[in-house]
Amino acid sequence: MVEQGNRWRPPGREWPLVSTLIYRSQAATPIAATGLERLLTRAKARNRRLGVTGMLLYSDNQFFQWLEGPPEGVTQIWDSIRQDPRHGHIELIDHHTRSLRLFGDWDMKFVSREAPLAALSDQGHAHKELHPGLIGLMAQLALDGDAAAIVDGLEELLVIGQDFLALHGSLIEPAARLLGDWWCEDRIGAVEIAIALSYLQSAVRRIGATQSDAGPMREAGGDILIATAPGETHGLGAALVGDVFRRSGWRVAREFPADAGALCAELRGGRFDALCLCLSDVIDRAEQIGPLTSLIRAARAASANPALVVMAGGRLFRTQPDLAPFIGADAVYSGAADALSRTLSSMGRPQTPPRLRAGRAPTLH
Ligand SMILES: Cc1cc2nc3c(=O)[nH]c(=O)nc-3n(C[C@H](O)[C@H](O)[C@H](O)COP(=O)(O)O)c2cc1C
Repeated sequence: MVEQGNRWRPPGREWPLVSTLIYRSQAATPIAATGLERLLTRAKARNRRLGVTGMLLYSDNQFFQWLEGPPEGVTQIWDSIRQDPRHGHIELIDHHTRSLRLFGDWDMKFVSREAPLAALSDQGHAHKELHPGLIGLMAQLALDGDAAAIVDGLEELLVIGQDFLALHGSLIEPAARLLGDWWCEDRIGAVEIAIALSYLQSAVRRIGATQSDAGPMREAGGDILIATAPGETHGLGAALVGDVFRRSGWRVAREFPADAGALCAELRGGRFDALCLCLSDVIDRAEQIGPLTSLIRAARAASANPALVVMAGGRLFRTQPDLAPFIGADAVYSGAADALSRTLSSMGRPQTPPRLRAGRAPTLH
């Protein structure tokens, strides 16, 4: 999905590498709307000339800017920006080179405090398909630990009509995968990922607490045990899957088993219709195929319900969706919504998508 952002190119020219530079700064004095307009008009014209795209956020006298384009163009603009007396306390957050743009169609999108994320999901993009830049912004906010901005952003998207559960698949899971891409590119470390994921997870929990379940869906459920695979440190995927099942009327038990024995004890003690084993949504855990296969065999043998439906999910299964029979699962899923529909079809049940009551989310702050 992110690759769709890489669409702006001067005719007949390919850019194999895009330099991305992200910084924040403080306005020297509060900037009035006309001052901002002047700044942006000139910036856009120069950015267009140099092939630079990106986003500028201004709120509470703070700037946050994302610049991307040919390395020499970005450097040239960055040299000017650093010397600009209109702001100070300039903090470079990140500067790296990669092969795609997130804001390819904007010479410099201005985003205000009042509606930062909603502005990024505006015209030109199908309602359900969020702008890839938004996914990048969400990932960056999670890395920055900006919990309030993540919650505010999700709220805005709900206000403009996005569905909360749909955002799991269109924004939160892709942001987690983008963090995984950044890890693969050596831009961030394992600890940063873990912290960023916890910010995403806690924002989803906070927003989720303000959303009511749709009553009529209650009968559709069953009992499911949702467990992270033993040793898996990324729990975001399991949390999102749990959210989707719970809101669809399922009784959800969550488990973070230390080993196969702990998981089997749980399955022996309770009568579950389904077991969902979650690997990381962020990183492709290919080395887990063997252990997961043994785990599923042991889980089936231990289950008090011989007809237990076993699901497995995580980033690994997005790239290898045909793995289910090899690991002994009934199905594998690629995201939280997919987990529900595949579980229902494995159980031979009709599928009705989960719904939430429409309406404005209450303000959290
Ligand atoms: C917060 C902030 C963001 C800016 N962003 C850009 C930008 O994206 N592109 C740009 O050409 N100038 C931008 N400018 C303006 C530059 O700092 C500079 O004034 C302008 O590029 C003219 O540069 P020059 O005087 O070196 O020719 C920005 C200025 C500020 C304060």
